[in-house]
This record gives sequence, C-alpha cells and structure tokens, in this order.
Amino acid sequence: METAELRLELAVERKAVEQNLRRLLNGEKGIPTRLKSAMRHSLMGGGKRLRPILTIWTWNAFVQNRKNRGSVSGDVMDVACALEMLHTYSLIHDDLPAMDDDNLRRGRPTCHLAFDEATAILAGDGLQALAFCVLARAGGPTAGGLVDMVGRAVGPAGMVAGQQNDLDAEGVPVTAALVRLIHRDKTARLLAASLSCGAMLAGMGPAVLVPLEKAGLDLGMAFQVADDILDVTATSAQLGKTAGKDEAAGKATWLRVEGLPAARRRMNRLGRRGLRGIEAALPAGPARDRLLAQSGLMWNRDR
Ligand code: IPE
Ligand code: IPE
Ligand code: MG
Ligand code: MG
Ligand code: MG
Repeated sequence: METAELRLELAVERKAVEQNLRRLLNGEKGIPTRLKSAMRHSLMGGGKRLRPILTIWTWNAFVQNRKNRGSVSGDVMDVACALEMLHTYSLIHDDLPAMDDDNLRRGRPTCHLAFDEATAILAGDGLQALAFCVLARAGGPTAGGLVDMVGRAVGPAGMVAGQQNDLDAEGVPVTAALVRLIHRDKTARLLAASLSCGAMLAGMGPAVLVPLEKAGLDLGMAFQVADDILDVTATSAQLGKTAGKDEAAGKATWLRVEGLPAARRRMNRLGRRGLRGIEAALPAGPARDRLLAQSGLMWNRDR
C-alpha cells in the first residue's frame, strides 16, 4: 500500500477512534468534574492510536475487506477503545514522579502536572476500570475470554510486571534476557493483545490466536526498540515527550546492552519476523495488506 494512502486511512480511523473514546467517556455518569477532566486530558490528547487500529484492522482482515468505514461494528470499536484506555492509563502512571517522572506526554504537560499527582493516579485507575467495563459490555459472546486475555496481558504478570522490572533494572547491569523480558511484558503484551482482540471478535480459535500472538509480541518488541532508539535520535518536539531520558535514568534498553547499530538490526529482525507471522496468520486480501502496512510503521517510524 502507498504510504500516502495508508496515512490517510490511519487519519480517518484515528478520528473514528477518538470520536468513540469521547462518546464512551461522556457516557459515564457520576465522574467528579476534576477527575473527568484529567481522564480527558490524557485520553483525548493526541496519540497515534496504534492499539485500537490494530484491533479494528485485524478484525477487518477476518470479517470483511471493508471499504466503508461506517460499517465497523460498534462492538469492535468499543473493544478497540478499551485498549486505548488501558494504554493511556499506563502512560499516566508511567509518567508519575515515582515512575519515569516525565513532564511531557503527547505534546502536552503530563497528567500529574496539568492536575496533581493524586488526581493523575486516580485518572489512571478510573481508565483501567472503565476499560474492563467496556470490554465486558462490548465483547458479546467472547466477553469473558476477552476480559481474561486482556487482563492477563496488562496485569501483574503482564504489563505491570514489565513496569516493575523496568523500574528495578534502572541503573543496574542488565542482561539481554532481562531486557527482552521487560520489553515483552511492558509493551509487547498489550500490542499483541490488540491483535488478539480483533481475531477473537471475529470468532477465531487457537489455530489463529497462538501464532498471531507470537507475531504481535515480535512486533511489540520491535516497537519498544524503536521507542528506545527514538529516545536518543529524535527531539522532544518530534516525539511529544521528553527525549534523552532513558540514558539519564539508566533504563534497560538494547542500546545500553549492544549499542545503536546492533539495536537497529535487532529491531528490523523482530519487525520483519512479526510481519511474516501476521501474513501467515491472516487471510490474504486488501485488509491484511493494510494491517501489514500499518504494522511496518510500528518500527519504521519517526515518532
Ligand atoms: C508509548 O506508546 C509507550 C510505549 C509503550 C513505548 P506510543 O508510542 O504508542 O504512544 P502514543 O499512544 O502514540 O502516545
Ligand atoms: C512505557 O515504556 C511502557 C508503558 C507505559 C507500559 P517507556 O517508559 O519507555 O515509554 P515512554 O518512552 O515513557 O513513552
Ligand atoms: Mg517507563
Ligand atoms: Mg516512560
Ligand atoms: Mg521510552
């Protein structure tokens, strides 16, 4: 797919995701005004929306080669938005002084600076709980399976484990095996779950889900290597978040373990293996091509 065409499709899908995120947040009654403003500040403040788009486009590859975006089922869109809520909660908490202590996110002040620390913690908590409500409501016959799968991906043996190990590894010597584990858990688990959600909503079983998850983990790890590379090669203005923080914080990155050129080679290897995995797991057609093109941008990216 032409890059310009892909960028246009991404922009349209991003807009649809953002409309639905706004609808889901506004539909929740009883959230205190300040808390809701903090949730909105982080949720609606930019972001590439990669995870929800992975879900929708994976679903498309199984269910239909959709040209008309209006035909996307509300359930798939809601599940996709639940994943973006989980991702956003993880960013709010990741930026807290007790974690990475960042002041810029998605081109705006981080939640705890725009509001205060307690409100940022609660905004993250609120988004996490809301995400699971949305998953349970929108998952249809597969809701239980979705909640379980996503819960494991982001839970204390998934993303949260990755964040704990990421913090514990700051400033201490790390092995390649530890960096691999941290990257898989803190980042790749949720990205892989995004693909899995699309396939589960399309009624796919283990014959598809197992290889697709493997491909998603490869892509997710390529994505985190790209994130670590951009931390040293891009500017804060380009990224919308503070560049150059990983080295200062002594983070466990491939750059630290093996240097920039080898990290780049690793990123390309992982990314290409992820693409081959997606190609093998999904039925051929324009929807798969579009997903492959989007997946390529996950590591070949400049922000
Ligand atoms: C940033 O994720 C955090 C990582 C897992 C590396 P994204 O690069 O997807 O952030 P947004 O959603 O576009 O802001
Ligand atoms: C973030 O990793 C992973 C999660 C938020 C779960 P980073 O700490 O590298 O992400 P950025 O660079 O702050 O976006
Ligand atoms: Mg972090
Ligand atoms: Mg961080
Ligand atoms: Mg980073």
